[in-house]
Amino acid sequence: MSISFKSDKKIFHLRTRTSSYVMQVLPSGHLAHLYWGALIKSDYPDNTIMYGDRAFSPYLPEPHREMKSVLDTAEFEYSTYGCGDFRMPAVQLQFADGSTASDLRYVDYSIESGKSGLSGLPSVYIEDTSEADTLVVLLRDELKKIDVELKYSVMPGYDVITRSTRIINGGEQPCDILKAASMALDFSHSDYDMIRLSGSWARERHVVREPLHSGLQSVSSTRGASSHQQHPFLALADKKADETTGDVYAFSLVYSGNFAAEAEVESDFKTRVSLGINSFDFRWHLDAGEEFQTPEVVMVFSNSGLGNMSRTYHKLYRERLCRGKYRDSDRYVLINNWEATYFDFNEELIVSLAAEAKELGVEMFVLDDGWFGKRDLDDCSLGDWVPDKNKLPGGIKSLAEKVVGMGLKFGLWFEPEMVSPDSDLYRAHPDWCIHVDGRDRSEGRNQLVLDYSRKCVREYIVDILSKVLADAPISYIKWDMNRHMTEVGSAELSPERQRETAHRYILGLYEVLEELTTRFPDILFESCSGGGGRFDPGMLYYMPQTWTSDNSDAGSRMKVQYGTSMVYPASAMGAHVSVVPNHQNHRVTSLETRGLVAMSGNFGYELDVRKMTDEDKVAVKDQIKLYRKIRHTVLFGDQYRLKSPFEGNETAWMYVAPNKGEAVAFYFYSMAESNTRSKRLKLAGLDSDMNYRIEETGEVFAGDFLMQVGVWTPPMSEGDFKSAFWHLVAEKK
Ligand code: DGJ
Repeated sequence: MSISFKSDKKIFHLRTRTSSYVMQVLPSGHLAHLYWGALIKSDYPDNTIMYGDRAFSPYLPEPHREMKSVLDTAEFEYSTYGCGDFRMPAVQLQFADGSTASDLRYVDYSIESGKSGLSGLPSVYIEDTSEADTLVVLLRDELKKIDVELKYSVMPGYDVITRSTRIINGGEQPCDILKAASMALDFSHSDYDMIRLSGSWARERHVVREPLHSGLQSVSSTRGASSHQQHPFLALADKKADETTGDVYAFSLVYSGNFAAEAEVESDFKTRVSLGINSFDFRWHLDAGEEFQTPEVVMVFSNSGLGNMSRTYHKLYRERLCRGKYRDSDRYVLINNWEATYFDFNEELIVSLAAEAKELGVEMFVLDDGWFGKRDLDDCSLGDWVPDKNKLPGGIKSLAEKVVGMGLKFGLWFEPEMVSPDSDLYRAHPDWCIHVDGRDRSEGRNQLVLDYSRKCVREYIVDILSKVLADAPISYIKWDMNRHMTEVGSAELSPERQRETAHRYILGLYEVLEELTTRFPDILFESCSGGGGRFDPGMLYYMPQTWTSDNSDAGSRMKVQYGTSMVYPASAMGAHVSVVPNHQNHRVTSLETRGLVAMSGNFGYELDVRKMTDEDKVAVKDQIKLYRKIRHTVLFGDQYRLKSPFEGNETAWMYVAPNKGEAVAFYFYSMAESNTRSKRLKLAGLDSDMNYRIEETGEVFAGDFLMQVGVWTPPMSEGDFKSAFWHLVAEKK
């Protein structure tokens, strides 16, 4: 059992393979956080809390006055507002009498083998009860009869702890939740850097690392989606922690909507971290007897740097967050027509693109936006999921059958959460979108957001999509979402529940996705939001891959994919070769570099293959052959980041098969530098006791040589954005 409880001292000790997490119920009943860090095999002592006095911090009332200012000075698990802890609370409630002070004290606990799901929400799962143990600690606000269950699941094999919280109104009066973090905990100091993933459209998940400072620092979204701008992830790292050394404490929220990830450094330089639904513009009404479930946070401790942190998330998310038939399988090499045609296509054109792509070795053709309603531009028809007979006289069925007849799979784009004001759906149901009565409805990309908090809307979408999917041989769906929420409100919710709209929307989205992925288990779903605007663990639970960014320029993608790899495996990242000059930033890079960057994920093309030169077509054939050889190692291997594009001119990463029998390494530099010579790139993750043959050259080197001395990289004087690649196959020494 990975969880123990020392009943005399009321100490809970949770142990993963390499870490310990320790809590204690104090004499007052408050749940203190004692330790999180490297594994402690022995019992944790009980005399580690110092009760002190602090000016302007109140004493606990009798009978615990001897604990002095403990509430404002000790480290806790899930603090409340209003009774002596002045740091930001994990939870804030407002009761029927208007008051907002609450006080949670320990009541009971339970420990069970296994881990259950969270009602209506995505979460990390297990396949066998032996994979996890779960502790639930019950805290109660005795005055108002509010129960708070803190759920901790320990997955020793995956080396993670997950946390979530359930709030139950056991009183006779309603109450409102103003804030409900999924987790919170206090660190005893603040000598850390905070790492976050920030950016914008076409520049998602750039790594930002800054020292913690006094006061509150946070990342959050108020857009109704996890967003391109900030990411539901936060890590605290020792100042000297790098890819291979140092302590890192990481938190990743399994949620796709408004979130807040916060770190507060208080006057004694302790640090409180919390993650959960953003409390801004949130208020959840709990009638007597009702309960509220927060999303889950996945916590990883690594005492060997960021690389190990990422590999821990990669394995867990690949194997125990993603689901379905494609979870463990190689994904198709696809071609998508978006940048080749935009809205301007017909069946004949698509068929000719598909035929040419098939010749090159592509495995799946994906028809993007513009196939339905009268959508010749992005200003109409979302919601009317009926094929445009002008473009596709035989509908999707006839086109899909033709493509499938060529020996390709067929995939289709949808944007099911949106409605165009110029659509039959909107004309019939103008109240089906997120809106506030009487207020202008701001359009983004000429569209409004469907109100997924409403059952009738969800049923319509499931029904109309099911019709298209059941009618044609469709193997893949690109599920897009291209604007954020404004004028947030729902026609169906009562005034006191309006601030529930954004979260109810996400719950509705999850319900729709659960229904469709269950109805169509053979379809591979890829999520997208103007690229990687909703690349988060919540979406990965339903769709095992995400379009990483609308920016397909190889130079930009190095940063986006490097940052994304902090949390997500290559199997989750869609990455395509597109035309040059690039459509997003007009940069020109070589086909080789574009190919190698895109091969570091779910590989595909997004260009007009008919317009390629014969030479490029040969190169594309070779790229596809190579990718098919290495894709299993890339998608399911262990990733080692070797050079960061955020720290210099070079980027390098590699993937090593779990049995270390094979590895692939990628190297890129950005700007050319004159008069430079080749340098050594040290590889990582190989077996020191094996030799490795470099497939491209036939040379053989020992694993330890490759890791200690390295391979030669090309000199940086050969033009901008050049690359190198090594495919290593192990041989016995
Ligand atoms: C945004 C996506 O990110 C693109 O790849 C493309 O599908 C367009 N939407 C289509 O409107």
